[in-house]
Amino acid sequence: MMWVKKYRPESLSDYRGASKEKEKLREWAEDWEKGDGPTLLHGQAGTGKTSLVEALANDLDMELVETNASDVRTKTKLREELLESVRQRSFLGKEKLILVDEVDGMSGNADRGGTSLIREIVEESRFPVVMTANDPYESKIKTLRQMSEMIELGSVHTNSIAAHLREILEEEGIEYEGGAPKRLARQADGQMRSAINDLEAVARGRNRVSVDDIEDASRRDDRKEVFDSLKIVFKTETPDNARQATENLDENPETWMQWVRENLPREYGKSQDIADGMDAVSGADLFNGRVRRTMNWSLMRYVYLYTTVGVALAKEERYSGWTNYQYPSKIRDMGKSNSSRKKRSEIGEKIGEKLHISISKSVSELFFLSQVLEENPGVGDQLGLTSEEVEFVKDF
Ligand SMILES: Nc1ncnc2c1ncn2[C@@H]1O[C@H](COP(=O)(O)OP(=O)(O)OP(=O)(O)O)[C@@H](O)[C@H]1O
Ligand SMILES: [Mg+2]
Repeated sequence: MMWVKKYRPESLSDYRGASKEKEKLREWAEDWEKGDGPTLLHGQAGTGKTSLVEALANDLDMELVETNASDVRTKTKLREELLESVRQRSFLGKEKLILVDEVDGMSGNADRGGTSLIREIVEESRFPVVMTANDPYESKIKTLRQMSEMIELGSVHTNSIAAHLREILEEEGIEYEGGAPKRLARQADGQMRSAINDLEAVARGRNRVSVDDIEDASRRDDRKEVFDSLKIVFKTETPDNARQATENLDENPETWMQWVRENLPREYGKSQDIADGMDAVSGADLFNGRVRRTMNWSLMRYVYLYTTVGVALAKEERYSGWTNYQYPSKIRDMGKSNSSRKKRSEIGEKIGEKLHISISKSVSELFFLSQVLEENPGVGDQLGLTSEEVEFVKDF
């Protein structure tokens, strides 16, 4: 189990920092009566919104009814189940706490009417409703915002993060150099989730963690910024947001393309979205090739346009939840061995010939293909791959 999950606070007393906000939310929930409005809990990703509501429900011994508004299946579920649930007493004889998570993530078209549905739920509810949002000023949730009590969860203080990391290390029986937790906490930029993930990446499986280990890790890959850009591209449905995702990103365009390729199939679930997204990346690749051949650097903007706006708009609807983005490590490791490089380009050529596409022979296509093969084993035959080649691809 990942550490973010294993060490989720069960009670408000385990929940670090935000003491005023905790208190405000607790009082609101305790004093809530039918007719009172909802609360809109907002703050950037990974600041602990969902965990706060879960811890509160635990402490007040309330039954937590949890729905994610950005989930594509939610609309019917919302209508059928949630409306019932907010009207009915709990079978457990408890008070309920209703959590409508990520209301700003409801996707535009498919969920048109989603906002009014949530408003109806809020108005009908016999129980307190908490909504969460990253961006409360998103125009589509304006009506929800106006009826809500707002509580903002700001960045988590470095000291609170460091204290939490120390506790995890102690629980895991991992020794550490005094400055190590603080060092990780500082680079997490106020996001508890990102700090715990960074800690897990350097510490898991070790007996001891030093400040040097952390510095080595952050020198190896400066992934945080890339992670932020990826998240924007994959989550947003607004071209302008997508376009801005790579502004100030300190990555060369080819590496950035690898990041997108590697992680796109992890985020997007539907094969059509993956295919459309990969198409956009291929478009970018084409322009990248032209820039290199012609030295016409002005074309570079299309590389970014395809990998940001193109990829963002490839999805039919936004995917909810959090994706563990991966460093394109396969690409790095595979480049080292001659024989696998050869095998890779042979397979790439076969695929390219069959599909009449320019395949860059990069393993990231193989990662994509491995997912396709999993769903549809016949594809190997259609592409004329030998069984050995199919096995090679499946390893990704
Ligand atoms: N104040 C905190 N104290 C201890 N752990 C925390 C705290 N805040 C967050 N965490 C940890 O960080 C993880 C992420 O928090 P959470 O899922 O609540 O964030 P979120 O604000 O809901 O993010 P998102 O906007 O992406 O949904 C949790 O699983 C938990 O382990
Ligand atoms: Mg959340």
